[in-house]
Amino acid sequence: MKLVCVTGLIFLARVAAADVCQVTIEATDQMRFEEQTLPVASDCSEVEVTLRNTGKLPASVMGHDWVLTKTSDVSSVANAGMGAGVANNYQKPGDKRIIASTKIIGGGESATVRFSLGLLDPKESYTYFCSAPGHASIMKGRLVYRPSSAPSVARNEAM
Ligand code: CO
Repeated sequence: MKLVCVTGLIFLARVAAADVCQVTIEATDQMRFEEQTLPVASDCSEVEVTLRNTGKLPASVMGHDWVLTKTSDVSSVANAGMGAGVANNYQKPGDKRIIASTKIIGGGESATVRFSLGLLDPKESYTYFCSAPGHASIMKGRLVYRPSSAPSVARNEAM
């Protein structure tokens, strides 16, 4: 009986670890995201996004964040964020349209956010953008589903 319980726990832990899909998005001093799409396997339960600012400029000059919303909400959320100021990472506090976001970071810094894929509707279109004033028109990309989290698929896409 005891042995069965232990085996069950190990199984659960392994599944939980495999279901968190990790992706890295790089932001630059040239005001762009290196990744124009964020591929997410539909069998991920959670997605962990790490934003890396590979630039050298400080956050006050060329800071970037990563904000995920429905594609149709991008302009309105970006506009609302401009009024919120840098103290709020140019994100309107309590904005329910923001599904996930990091803080604004400067060159050499990174920030991570994790969200449940269950928050997303597979039939909806989702876009991530940088909410620093004036950045969203250039700094954005699309979340796309891919069929499986098999490592071989990820490697092929990276090439
Ligand atoms: Co930016």
